[in-house]
Amino acid sequence: MDAAELLSRLKANLCQVIRGKEAVVERFLVALLANGHVLIEDVPGVGKTTLAKALARSLQADYRRIQFTPDLLPTDIVGGMIYSPKTGEFSFRPGPVFCHVLLGDEINRASPRTQSALLEAMSERQVTSEGERRELPRPFLVLATQNPVEYHGTYPLPEAQLDRFAMRLELGYPDEESELAVVLDQRSTHPLEALRPVADTLDLVAAQEAVCRIHVEASVVRYLTRLVRATRDDPRLRLGASPRAALVLFRTCQALALLRGRDYVVPDDVRELAVAVIAHRLFLDTKASYSGTRKQDIVIELLDRLAPPT
Ligand SMILES: Nc1ncnc2c1ncn2[C@@H]1O[C@H](COP(=O)(O)OP(=O)(O)O)[C@@H](O)[C@H]1O
Ligand SMILES: [Mg+2]
Repeated sequence: MDAAELLSRLKANLCQVIRGKEAVVERFLVALLANGHVLIEDVPGVGKTTLAKALARSLQADYRRIQFTPDLLPTDIVGGMIYSPKTGEFSFRPGPVFCHVLLGDEINRASPRTQSALLEAMSERQVTSEGERRELPRPFLVLATQNPVEYHGTYPLPEAQLDRFAMRLELGYPDEESELAVVLDQRSTHPLEALRPVADTLDLVAAQEAVCRIHVEASVVRYLTRLVRATRDDPRLRLGASPRAALVLFRTCQALALLRGRDYVVPDDVRELAVAVIAHRLFLDTKASYSGTRKQDIVIELLDRLAPPT
């Protein structure tokens, strides 16, 4: 199956279960194709768990969920050595992170030490325990959820950690017609139960490789790096976007081009993904944050100021 076929099948499958959210589902697929992890910041009950499950089922992938709580330990995520009285030996018991699709729910409720165990696994795609390196499966996608930050009893993710997420997405409430469909869809059973696999994890890995072959003209690369660099000169920001952001923007633009059936990136791909890829990595200075400036508005402003390549 080629990448285009895989994408249209996945999109159709996910949209069958998640109603009225085509744009978010597309972005989610773009992140997946770019081999990136996704942070979803949203209120409960808007379909986050359902989305992760639908993806795993569509790809016949191993799915795990971790509920983050203040007393969760790093070993609860990555695993650890356990002693077997029978053999008198220690052996490694893999934690839930050894899967294809990992849903980390309410990641900001765990202690910073536990958060960093997950985030390390995310960026290294491996786990080191007792000096031994263990590779995570391929593909490996983390979908982490976070309550809107005002909630109490949370440890907000530090800058360095947020940078590990390829994108930050919001699902948001469905519109009236979609909400009606959600209710009617579940009259007797949940649509997840009827969802059939449309591909497997090897198809996804092949599609991720195809993404890297999408052409990006030098002028477009310059356009996207200039955008990233402009965040570092903005007086309202205490921290701009890193070169990692530029790399992710490059790769996700390739993925979006593929999703749209093109074998080359256009400047509009950069525009379309800029907020989802860049905004969460920025930190407002105190004055800007008190005056209610939004990070996404800064990204859009910078885009508007930058002349796209012709
Ligand atoms: N946009 C949507 N489309 C389809 N179902 C939805 C949507 N939003 C919420 N639901 C349904 O609401 C219920 C709760 O969703 P869930 O995925 O558990 O939410 P969350 O993980 O965000 O708290 C599920 O039955 C889910 O199917
Ligand atoms: Mg949930």
